[in-house]
Amino acid sequence: MQWTAVVVLAGTAGAVQAQSVNPATLANSGGDGLAACASCHGAQGEGQGAMPRLAGINAAYLRKQLDDLAEGRREHALMSPIAKAMSPETREAMSGYYAATALPASAPPGDAHPGARVAQRGAWDRNVPGCVQCHGPGGRGVGDAFPPIAGQTADYLSAQLEAWKAGRRSNDPIGLMQAAARGLTAEEIRDVSDYFSKLPMEASR
Ligand code: HEC
Ligand code: HEC
Repeated sequence: MQWTAVVVLAGTAGAVQAQSVNPATLANSGGDGLAACASCHGAQGEGQGAMPRLAGINAAYLRKQLDDLAEGRREHALMSPIAKAMSPETREAMSGYYAATALPASAPPGDAHPGARVAQRGAWDRNVPGCVQCHGPGGRGVGDAFPPIAGQTADYLSAQLEAWKAGRRSNDPIGLMQAAARGLTAEEIRDVSDYFSKLPMEASR
């Protein structure tokens, strides 16, 4: 795994942002006033409950989320202050670090799972496309813009779908996710989140 020493610039809001932190050290032990990412995101970035999995997710996508959180386009009481305290260089380094972390795959659920229908075919009577049409076969993600959702925690997936549905998250390009989430029922959100949480995620390049 490759890492570059993070060189630092003074913070924007008066705070001094992270200095020369090795990504693995910041991830596991914290540093420069930042808590260890692992304390919330899990020892290997596998996620737990409402704390999303970071391991194996596309680096450019993680970087966009950290920038959105740091600059207020996406809001979260716990994560926004952390992203704001990271320099742009640290955000870049941590995105690369977690994207390159591979985790063992789990056994996939079958087509009989209650979330399989919405995942694969959507609910066209309510203008909801199948999730895989944008997130790729098996929810593995496509390029930098469509993140993998397979192997993500069910609580985090359902929280994001609820947030888009209610308009609390709105940093998606041209409202694609807001449109997809709006037509889903609470039960479909629960089932489709459980379905993707059980699909194996392949590490992104
Ligand atoms: C106090 C707990 C906590 C700590 C410590 C923490 N995070 Fe987070 N992080 C969260 C939560 C909760 C979310 C989900 C926010 C939401 O639901 O919108 C999140 C979201 C994220 C996301 C967006 C993921 C996605 O798929 O959209 C990234 C990237 C991230 N964190 C990176 C980090 C990094 C890097 C560190 C360490 C420097 C870190 N986090 C430390 C709680 C934490
Ligand atoms: C029309 C395309 C499209 C469809 C259909 C779609 N998505 Fe998305 N989804 C996106 C885009 C684009 C993003 C990235 C948003 C951003 O940049 O913040 C995204 C992001 C997400 C995220 C946030 C991931 C993270 O780590 O932050 C979740 C969860 C998600 N989608 C779940 C779903 C589910 C479940 C379905 C099916 C019901 C679905 N999506 C259907 C385009 C789509």
